[in-house]
Amino acid sequence: MHQHQHAPLPLEQLKDVPQPLVVLLEMLLQKDPAKRPQSPAELLKAMATIRGAIGAGRRIAHQSLQKTPPPDSVTLTRRAGARLGPRKISVARLPITGSGVFGREEDIAFLDAAWANQHVNVVTIVAWGGVGKSTLVNHWLGRMAAEHYRSAKFVYGWSFYRQGTSGDSLSADEFLDAALIWFGDPDPRIGTAWEKGVRLAKLIAHRRTLLLLDGLEPLQNPPGPQEGRLREPSLQALLRELAAFNTGLCVITTRTAVADIADHEGTSALRRELEQLSWRCRCESCSKRSALQGRKQSCEVPATISRAIVLL
Ligand SMILES: Nc1ncnc2c1ncn2[C@@H]1O[C@H](COP(=O)(O)OP(=O)(O)OP(=O)(O)O)[C@@H](O)[C@H]1O
Ligand SMILES: [Mg+2]
Repeated sequence: MHQHQHAPLPLEQLKDVPQPLVVLLEMLLQKDPAKRPQSPAELLKAMATIRGAIGAGRRIAHQSLQKTPPPDSVTLTRRAGARLGPRKISVARLPITGSGVFGREEDIAFLDAAWANQHVNVVTIVAWGGVGKSTLVNHWLGRMAAEHYRSAKFVYGWSFYRQGTSGDSLSADEFLDAALIWFGDPDPRIGTAWEKGVRLAKLIAHRRTLLLLDGLEPLQNPPGPQEGRLREPSLQALLRELAAFNTGLCVITTRTAVADIADHEGTSALRRELEQLSWRCRCESCSKRSALQGRKQSCEVPATISRAIVLL
């Protein structure tokens, strides 16, 4: 055992082996595993140094092979990199929309500014069906993702559009349960609907979170005296709490403004009425999509007319 641990390597027997290669063998056969290459990448780097030295007929010192950072600093660097992005992301419940987005530069700038402004807690994107609310938010989310979600700690997306059962019986329960679990609530079954909403708001608001709620209108009252009011106490509590305090941002898309947060409007809750895209944008979008898919234009506007509009 003593021989195994302390006897020097019989390197004198390697007379005909180039000196840099002997140094590499010594490194590979180190008694202390920490002094051996710690990864294939480190070994490849050492081999490149050896090859260069042999090619140039140079001798090398042992230290020159140990210039790669020690394992601790490699781990630290990797951890620091991982810290660039959020701790947790869930966006699979958001609707899938087209990748080509046109004519929304100002709306994207509005969302950028809202995210950057610590006084803005909730943003509501309002427009008729099909105007492009979900497309806009998805596109902006893609830009956020490309920048590691700009310091968001959590990113959570949910679409109420055509989810749950149908018509009037659509409820927020599924969302509340899933979100409470995801954000780490110890027991999502405890409490009234209102209390659950308040709890969820607390879990979200204290850690910089990007919360995306798509297609909220099925849970709001239709035109009438209660127009735009949320029908579910849990969502009322969640949105009212978030409008009052939120270190991140909640982005809502809906066909009707949310009446429950009207008292925060213009201060911590901003509303953006999305404009219908002009025909010019629509035709550009359609022509580009058709070209990408290698087929003829499928726009409802005849191709000759649309070409004329694009040329205007
Ligand atoms: N800016 C855009 N550029 C290109 N195409 C767009 C744009 N906005 C919307 N569209 C097209 O219009 C379609 C409808 O858009 P989207 O689903 O985003 O509307 P919406 O306002 O969310 O509607 P709903 O209220 O029904 O959810 C999309 O599938 C997309 O093809
Ligand atoms: Mg939508």
